[in-house]
This record gives sequence, C-alpha cells and structure tokens, in this order.
Amino acid sequence: MTRRVYLSVPHMGEGELRYVQEAFASNWMSTVGPNLDAFEASFSERVGLPSVALASGTAGMHLGLRLLGVGPGDEVICPTLTFVATVNPALYLGARPVFVDSERSSWNLDANLLEDLLRRRAAVGRVPKALVIVHLYGQSADMDPIMEVCERYGVAVLEDAAEAVGTTYKGRPAGTIAPIGVYSFNGNKIITTTGGGMLVAQNPEWVQRARFWSQQARDPGVAYEHTQVGYNYRMSNVLAGIGRGQLEVLDHRVARRREVAFAYRDAFADLDGITLMPQCDYGLHTHWLSAFQIDARALGIDRDGLIRALEAENIESRPVWKPMHLQPLFDGVECVGGAVAADLFEHGLCLPSSSNLSDVDQQRVIAVIRRSARPQR
Ligand SMILES: Cc1ncc(COP(=O)(O)O)c(C=O)c1O
Repeated sequence: MTRRVYLSVPHMGEGELRYVQEAFASNWMSTVGPNLDAFEASFSERVGLPSVALASGTAGMHLGLRLLGVGPGDEVICPTLTFVATVNPALYLGARPVFVDSERSSWNLDANLLEDLLRRRAAVGRVPKALVIVHLYGQSADMDPIMEVCERYGVAVLEDAAEAVGTTYKGRPAGTIAPIGVYSFNGNKIITTTGGGMLVAQNPEWVQRARFWSQQARDPGVAYEHTQVGYNYRMSNVLAGIGRGQLEVLDHRVARRREVAFAYRDAFADLDGITLMPQCDYGLHTHWLSAFQIDARALGIDRDGLIRALEAENIESRPVWKPMHLQPLFDGVECVGGAVAADLFEHGLCLPSSSNLSDVDQQRVIAVIRRSARPQR
C-alpha cells in the first residue's frame, strides 16, 4: 500500500524541540513556566492584544462566553456552517443556540440574515445575548457589518478564530476585532501545540479573569480559598514550548497552505465542476484547509464519489462541515435560512492541505481527481 496522505498534519520546525528540552532541563513540567510566559508574550505581540494560553480552543470559548455574561436560558447566535465546537461552549453554560446561514461570497455568517433575526427579535423584546462568529477554513467573516449590527442591538460578540490563526481582516488579525477572540492549536491546525488554545481580549482585566478561572479560580492568599467556580484549563509549559517554536514559523506555514490551495486550483483550472472556496478581497485567507465545491453534473462524479476514489488510493479527504441545523444534536433549534450552508456542505470537499505536503503527494491527489472526473458532454 502506498503511504497515506492525511488531510492536515502537524509541521514542526527547528525551534519547538529546543523549547521543549528547556522545559525538561529546567523542570518546568507543569502549567506554569517560562515557555508559557514567552508564548503569551509573543502571541500578544503578534495580534496586539493581551492573551492567555489554554488547554484548548473549546476551553477558551467556554471562558470567553462566561466573560460575556452568557448563562442559563440565554440565546447565543452561531453560524450553522461550522464545527460543533463553536456551539458546545454555549451548551456548557446552559444557553441555547440560534443558527444563521452563510453567505456564498465568504461561506461565513450572512450579516443580512443576522440583521433580519435581530430586527425580528427586537420587535418582540427577545434579543439573543451573544454571537459567536466563525472564520471558516482560514477566511475571515465580513466583520464590519456584523459588528455594526451587533452593536446596534446590544449583542456581545466572541470571535471563534480557531481556524484563523494568521488570517487578517482589513489588515487586522482575525480574532481581534470583537472584544474577545479565541484561537485553536489543535493537532490539525495551521500551527499546533498538539492540543491548545489562546484567548485574547481587548480588556486586559478580562484576560486576567480568564487566567484566574482557568486555574480553578483560587483566591489570593496561602489558604486554598475559592469564591467562584473555576476550571483546569491552563496550557502546559511543555506544550507552550511547542507553541513558541510554531509561532516563529507561522508566516511560512500560511504561505505554504496558500500555495497548496492555489496549486490545486491551477491543476483543476481546465475542469468544470470543481471550484476553490472563494477569497474575499478584504483580508488574507490562509486556506487552512483547501476546500472545494463539487458540481457532480459538470465534473461527472459527486463529492462522496471523490472521497471514495481518494480513499482507495490511501488519501484522506472530508466533506465541508455538516451544518449545525442538520445535526441530530440540534433537532428543533431555530435556524435563519440554512439552504446555502446545506448546499456548501453537500457539495463541499476538503483536500489534503498540510504545509508539509510534498509536491509528489499533492500530485497523487490531483491525479486521482483528474482521473475520476468524467465530464458528460
Ligand atoms: C471552528 C472551530 N471552533 C472551535 C474549535 C475547537 O478548538 P479546539 O479543538 O482547540 O478545542 C475548532 C477546532 O477544533 C474549530 O474548527
């Protein structure tokens, strides 16, 4: 059997191991230490906001929603086209989601539908508490109209920038436009700490409070005294060492992911029915994953047929996220629109996108797709 080509794998540089070895040598093998301090400092320098390193992006979103005051019975708006981790933190807090469809131009939440929802809800005095906005596959949502409408209706905003480390919106890092942003360093992300996340906030006091909660909310003083509920959500100093090294090569990783996506696009340029996810001119799309739309009639094979053909050659691929309003978990939850997300899912295919994908392996992927395409003319 040929070597397996995975969807998105870690890509370590030179520095990561050195920082991890420093942690071993100095015995900072816990959730405090110099790597954590340095990782947070360099991340903050990059995005321009104070930050706290956490065990996962999901943990960061849980803390972020709590900072925004989300609690039992509140409603939290989420795009329907996302990974379930966008929505789970609202459930942890006893809140209920409300879903909004995507726009075709960015695949992200449609600001016009958001405005429709908020206008309708304001008329009956039931405006949701918060919006979790997602930047899908490395492309920012169109934040200006989204922030404007949320400010108008008093809806708090948290950016789920899990997939958007390195992404920009009008020159600013995605994740820094709303009061709180959360990033993921999960193993399949553009840079990784094997598992991990970062919360950033415009209000430094909020970052302090997130850090406090992430360490079991232990009050100052020698006695282990607690007045609030806390969590064990801090990143380890060992993993922060990996993060330090990864952050140093982030721009290279972004450049390479984009190169991979554009190489696919160019290789399929003469085929009808396979189209790269659009790029909005308001920002840098990292193409964390190379996502395509498949028109089965034009290409002669549908999305699932391609997944099977790739799998037969030991190549991993996957559909675009299955929308939340189509999930059994969210049966009966309100969704504004939903047809665009359903369509993007049904025809959406993510191809191997690792920044260390070799040209030889990418050519294998391209060859399977070209071989499978049977245009009916
Ligand atoms: C859109 C989105 N939100 C949240 C997360 C959660 O991040 P983590 O895996 O670090 O908890 C992920 C990735 O896993 C994601 O893709």
